[in-house]
Amino acid sequence: MSQQWWHSATVYQIYPRSFQDSNGDGMGDIPGIISRLDYLCKLGISIIWLCPVYASPMADNGYDISDYCAIAPEFGSMEDMQALIKAAKARGIHIIMDLVLNHTSDQHEWFQQSRSSKQNPYRDFYIWRQPDEQGQPPQFNPTSYFGGSMWTLDEQTGEYYFHQFASAQPDLNWRHPDVQQAMHKIINWWLQQGIAGFRLDVVDLIGKDIDAGILANGPHLHKLLQNMNQQCFAPQQAITVGEVWSATPETAKLMTRPERGELSMLFQFEHILQLHHPEHGKWRARPFNLIAFKQQLERWQQQIGNGWIAQFWGNHDLPRAVSTFGHEGDYREPSAKALAMIQFALKGTPYIYQGEEIGMTNVQFEHIDDYRDIETLNHYHEKRSQGWAEEDIMTGIFRHGRDNARTPMQWSASAHAGFSKAEPWIGLNDNFQQINVGQALVEPDSILYCYQQLIALRKTWPVLVYGEFFMLLPDDPQLLVFKRHLAEEAALVVVNLSAEPAAFSYNGHGEQVVGNYGNRQQISGHYQPYEAVIFDLGD
Ligand code: GLC
Ligand code: CA
Repeated sequence: MSQQWWHSATVYQIYPRSFQDSNGDGMGDIPGIISRLDYLCKLGISIIWLCPVYASPMADNGYDISDYCAIAPEFGSMEDMQALIKAAKARGIHIIMDLVLNHTSDQHEWFQQSRSSKQNPYRDFYIWRQPDEQGQPPQFNPTSYFGGSMWTLDEQTGEYYFHQFASAQPDLNWRHPDVQQAMHKIINWWLQQGIAGFRLDVVDLIGKDIDAGILANGPHLHKLLQNMNQQCFAPQQAITVGEVWSATPETAKLMTRPERGELSMLFQFEHILQLHHPEHGKWRARPFNLIAFKQQLERWQQQIGNGWIAQFWGNHDLPRAVSTFGHEGDYREPSAKALAMIQFALKGTPYIYQGEEIGMTNVQFEHIDDYRDIETLNHYHEKRSQGWAEEDIMTGIFRHGRDNARTPMQWSASAHAGFSKAEPWIGLNDNFQQINVGQALVEPDSILYCYQQLIALRKTWPVLVYGEFFMLLPDDPQLLVFKRHLAEEAALVVVNLSAEPAAFSYNGHGEQVVGNYGNRQQISGHYQPYEAVIFDLGD
């Protein structure tokens, strides 16, 4: 397949609010990010995915944009953003911005115009429907991702507008050519500022056909992406990664095979969705099922063809990787490294979410008032009013609430974890005195240095990037074992993803390239809890 530099590169995701505060207001900002670029450089990453920093009323922490070409004052100014792009470039780091295409803030000028009258030229930028005879919203009325109806009545014109997320995030009408053109203009403007591309927020939702009741992966999706690619991405060779909860290997290929001219790659969520309860979703989560995971992995690795995906365990919407897929107690260090080794030995570009590289864990705040996320707060109040027990709700929030990923980055053991001089906008995880970057930097075998080693290894060992994938022991309940083959070379990855020792026998020899329990001489033998090794099988 045709090779791209970003196949072997590593992306680091920054959630700006929680990364580094520079001016002592308790909120992370762009100058704060600039001050940490040397750290990212040392880690070896090539690309930053920057979560939204645009002007926003922050109903959903910036995923509700009121001006796509302005920076939110709490994060800095446009000059700061330009300085960041420049300072990153000087260190060989590219920036991809987060692009929210599906919806805007209700404070965006387009929506203000749109809601003002039925005749306004911006009316059709959004999706409006008349109430029925009883004054009710249209029949197609699913529950919004943040609770409540997807339709909100706007008094001014007496019609309902459509929103898949909060009512402050009205969905754009992508059927309207003016919406497409307006967005293309914004995209090109940003690319001209020197960014390398975009992460496209919930992009599979833009092709919807609500009258047919289709939201995800709708009939207009591919055409819209192809147009966007022709008008914006292709001419500027932008890197794009779509957030696609509905992805299957088949739809992922349609969106990412280079000859189709849509996206560079996408995030698929099967390993996350397997944790969700059929009815209550993530709020009554199920334990991680290794055997099911292996089936998913094998399918994706073998069927993606010349399409491309991202490899990730966590992001700003997900609980901490080590708490979910590893062991946040006794085996925090080995399990965090094991997860990294799996991720970096697969086909697909690895994405590290801030703090993952030091094994940051989930948080448990005592009181619901300590939580900040709109999704968590809406869920809490809705379920309380439906009679769910407090404890039941909190258990769900502890395990899957998005604020797990949003506690401040733990830089040091000093006040506020070195994140800020002031009280942060959201509480710290109180384990910051043990788990922090300062500590990781002085321990030669820290999780951080394991990531550093893996980032470097992927750049120099193509078998991890392009090798054919073979799953071994698909039914073993403890071990995840796979091989990668490329021409004459082969790698073997053996991981005990359990807290009990496991035995593995293998007929052949290999040399350990990375491991998390010292240097192994033999492939066969006992594997310690969460022991993981990448072997070079030679040729
Ligand atoms: C995506 C974002 C999430 C946001 C939602 C609505 O899933 O990652 O943070 O709340 O879209 O924009
Ligand atoms: Ca600040």
